[in-house]
Amino acid sequence: MTDWQNKYVSQDMVRASNCGYGHAHSKIILMGEHAVVYDYPAIAIPFTSVQVRVKVQANQIGRDFIQSSIYTGPLTTVPKQMENIQALVNLTRDSFQFDRKALLIKIDSDIPAGRGMGSSAAVSVALVRAICDYFNYSISDYQLHLLVNQAEAIAHESTSGLDTLITASDKPVIYRKSQKPFNFPLDLNAYLVLADSGMEGRTQQAVSRVLQLKLQQKEFVAELMESIGNFVEQAYTAIQDKNPAELGRLMTYNHYYLNQLGVSNERLDRIINASWMAGALGAKLTGGGMGGCVITLAENLNQAKAIAKAMKQAGAHKTWTLNLNKFA
Ligand code: MEV
Repeated sequence: MTDWQNKYVSQDMVRASNCGYGHAHSKIILMGEHAVVYDYPAIAIPFTSVQVRVKVQANQIGRDFIQSSIYTGPLTTVPKQMENIQALVNLTRDSFQFDRKALLIKIDSDIPAGRGMGSSAAVSVALVRAICDYFNYSISDYQLHLLVNQAEAIAHESTSGLDTLITASDKPVIYRKSQKPFNFPLDLNAYLVLADSGMEGRTQQAVSRVLQLKLQQKEFVAELMESIGNFVEQAYTAIQDKNPAELGRLMTYNHYYLNQLGVSNERLDRIINASWMAGALGAKLTGGGMGGCVITLAENLNQAKAIAKAMKQAGAHKTWTLNLNKFA
């Protein structure tokens, strides 16, 4: 065991109870995805009405078993897209020296996978919480982030840690990899519409596309990221100044730059364009891109409804509307 594990684990704490429960929620990256992987700032908000719940109990048939909408079967034979989950179960047990009794793990998620809504991080957060709850172990946020980021590195190769942080917390955050996350209250007279393009995004591929571009065109990518970092800082000021029009403008600029990084596509651009035409203050992709979701900022509820309708006509499968007034 490492020092930090030793510090927190006591044998009393690892006696199992009948069932363990964990939950986590979806997230929305408002500004700064991709650049955040390279230590530029990003802003993210929790989306708590879309959740994942995990239940853990002893499995009488003597081996670890998983039940989920993607796969039901032994933990040892999960499909590739769930290898992070398999690794995380073992890592959590080993880290805290929980006993090796067989577990039945039930994952019940409302978060669509591959939509930039933080599904993989949220499932991991809920899973670790459920395992720790089952063994009556009170895990700290720091320990949770360390474990989940290791699983995220398996899912996406390279991760900023932002998805882990925000799917486990109910506070908006401005985040930079090398610095302490800073939570802030969000209270804007505006509505955010999140639209699912219906197309699966591939965060891992998107992150590696940006890396390839960075290797080929170092200065160009450095300039783009520097600009995105500046937009994020200005967006944070716009939020403090309660200025939705300025935030919208910056979101749109952020999208142009993400487009130049090669992580948007025709479908996302079509939906974003429809929202601009319907009067949005600003719009951009959110999360990894190459599919997934877009977000758009509306002045009021009527405009948000008109924008949601326009985005559906442009191909969006589903929309959610969030009131940012006293949001958190
Ligand atoms: C994915 O939700 C956000 C990215 O910036 C990757 C990361 O931050 O780990 C694309």
